[in-house]
Amino acid sequence: MSASTVIKGGVTLAVIAAICTTLVAFTYRLTEERIDANEQALLERSLQPALSGLFYDSGVTESKIIVPPPHDLPGSEAAIIYRVYAQQEPVAALFVVSARDGYAGPIRILVGADTEGLVTGVHVLEHRETPGLGDRVESTKSDWVKQFEGRSLLDPTPSEWAIKGDGGQFDQLTGASVTPRAIVKAVKNTLVYYDAHRDELFADAPAESDQQKEVP
Ligand SMILES: Cc1cc2nc3c(=O)[nH]c(=O)nc-3n(C[C@H](O)[C@H](O)[C@H](O)COP(=O)(O)O)c2cc1C
Repeated sequence: MSASTVIKGGVTLAVIAAICTTLVAFTYRLTEERIDANEQALLERSLQPALSGLFYDSGVTESKIIVPPPHDLPGSEAAIIYRVYAQQEPVAALFVVSARDGYAGPIRILVGADTEGLVTGVHVLEHRETPGLGDRVESTKSDWVKQFEGRSLLDPTPSEWAIKGDGGQFDQLTGASVTPRAIVKAVKNTLVYYDAHRDELFADAPAESDQQKEVP
């Protein structure tokens, strides 16, 4: 084989490699954009159960605050707050927080509340509670979380923000009061935080996304 044949072969291979690399990079860019859009849509949908009965026209995920620990919200991991608007006016906030005292560890929950402090919905996002016992707090398994809708720090009074077995107003689950107790406490403490920080949370303009905001 002559030297020129070897060089030609090498150049051909290099050209093919370059074309393949470009194609892979191009496909990756296209797919990445589609995956981002799908993830965004999925996230938006997953937040809706905590916004029942509320009119809003902002993309919920567009106005997100990540609150790194330590903070005054329930849980020791970072909390997330999504601010929700209608015609540029604040209408609600969604909190992703953790109830610390679950039976089998922290329970990640989503708590929505309108600007008056009325709960628009609670949704259990992630937990390790026991199937058939604590897992009945999931909205696919029972309506247990529905009882928070429309409640606030004034209804019931703060001392009655507890399960019935502890003298409060919230139903527990038969044979499983540890999980409901943890969630009731976390929802209440989220409302307490919201009450104290509402103005601060909505102080800046809508849609300044993914901020790491200095909130306690
Ligand atoms: C193996 C096992 C798993 C349990 N899992 C849970 C659970 O996920 N959530 C819960 O609240 N209680 C769970 N319990 C029950 C609690 O230990 C506790 O007895 C119960 O929450 C008390 O509820 P009660 O006050 O209605 O009797 C579990 C108990 C056992 C033995």
